[in-house]
Amino acid sequence: MRSPFKSIRSELTFIIIVTGILIGVGVGFFIYKTTINKALESARTQIKTTMAFVKASRNYVRKTLRPRINELLATGCTNEDFILEAQSSSFFTASIFSMVNEEIPYMTLRQVAIRPLNPKHTPNDTELWMIEYLRRTKQKEFEGITVHEGKDYYIKAFAVIPKKGCLRCHGKIEDMPKAVRNLYGVKEDPNWKVGDVQGAVMVYVPFDQVLSEARRNGVVQGAMVGGVFILMAGIILLILHFKVFKPIDVLRTKADKISKGEVDETIPFQSENEIGRLAKAIDRMRISVKKIMDMMG
Ligand code: HEC
Repeated sequence: MRSPFKSIRSELTFIIIVTGILIGVGVGFFIYKTTINKALESARTQIKTTMAFVKASRNYVRKTLRPRINELLATGCTNEDFILEAQSSSFFTASIFSMVNEEIPYMTLRQVAIRPLNPKHTPNDTELWMIEYLRRTKQKEFEGITVHEGKDYYIKAFAVIPKKGCLRCHGKIEDMPKAVRNLYGVKEDPNWKVGDVQGAVMVYVPFDQVLSEARRNGVVQGAMVGGVFILMAGIILLILHFKVFKPIDVLRTKADKISKGEVDETIPFQSENEIGRLAKAIDRMRISVKKIMDMMG
């Protein structure tokens, strides 16, 4: 195949620039991915720690506090009483989490559900999508980077799948303790179904900064590596210019002159390398041509 380039110099320049750009883009992308993966790794660890705490609080309410209070209510108070602070694991978890939040302020916990008791737990579009997704894919967990209110977040979501006992408060209004009904002014039966995804417990970690940092790192470091490559290749090209391309140009003019019969100028050859040997060969040719021309008078 014929090269579209008229000179080795421009061909090399082209190859160097294209390779430099490819290397730069490759390295940049790799750095971008690595930065995000590192941040994800640390977000995962943080969420795991937090969720362990959240789960523990929830279990405490379910297994310890609520049964005990129920016992007390059964003996002393009426069963229509409801002590939010002690009987709702969600309320308890949220309270605990807000305390944890003082330590780790950038994380947000959301406990959302279809037809929630507390209107604050109404899912937004992202959260609705998440519940639908968990339901459709039958997955218990989701994690990923999602846009929420115009900002990037890393989200970890856990499906809320009610058991039979949950329906006392999340089923029909008539089954709810009166206090629950009054507390939130519930007008519509939550009507949760046992075993079906009814909501999600989600942790949001802001990822805007990570993403922009990853992009910046990728661009800067990619450009640096690509730039260094182009610079080094440029230096090599410069050396080639003085050592190869320029001497070849000189030899070409000399050969041109010989072809026109100007055979008296000797050709200087200083080096013993390929160019030097070529120069010597052309000079031998010059001498031969000169001899023939002399012979012919
Ligand atoms: C004794 C009543 C009661 C029972 C039983 C109960 N909850 Fe709740 N739940 C509540 C109350 C009250 C709230 C609202 C708490 C708040 O304001 O933060 C709530 C809130 C929630 C929320 C947040 C959405 C919303 O409706 O506000 C989820 C999710 C939830 N509960 C899941 C469950 C699951 C799962 C079970 C069964 C394992 C369960 N709950 C059992 C009373 C109950």
